[in-house]
Amino acid sequence: VEQTYIMIKPDGVQRGLVGEIISRFEKKGFLLKGLKLFQCPKDLAQEHYKDLKERPFFPNLIDYITSGPVVCMAWEGDGVVASARKLIGATNPLQAEPGTIRGDLAVQTGRNVVHGSDSPDNGKREIGKFCQWRI
Ligand code: GTP
Ligand code: MG
Repeated sequence: VEQTYIMIKPDGVQRGLVGEIISRFEKKGFLLKGLKLFQCPKDLAQEHYKDLKERPFFPNLIDYITSGPVVCMAWEGDGVVASARKLIGATNPLQAEPGTIRGDLAVQTGRNVVHGSDSPDNGKREIGKFCQWRI
């Protein structure tokens, strides 16, 4: 069965949006397979975003993701990877449609509250890195 890695970023946790964000995936009908609160170490953040390491915002991105606890989750269901990306909305929250998580809850690309894997292979890989403890 397909699984995706969803991570509520430090701004989502600090702003008290954990319940709201989890609720969107629950209401959609996906299955929560694992969840923990976690302080992401710098090396894991760098590995997670390694495709972006040449971008000018990379140091800011690593500082952001490691700035406080994140919520690590594994979600399961048919088509969950693409569907979760739709529920999350565009990377830039100002371009994200109303009704999406980022469209409703965020304004800055650098503070966009949630991560979702971009392919089933990356979902598997990211769950392996962040959710080894899951059921
Ligand atoms: P994730 O689900 O977090 O992977 O976001 P995404 O797949 O929508 O975007 P992408 O993987 O391209 O970028 C990862 C993260 O880097 C984004 O979610 C942003 O937090 C950050 N990011 C991407 N582009 C920019 C940018 O131009 N400026 C800043 N400050 N941050 C960016
Ligand atoms: Mg991405």
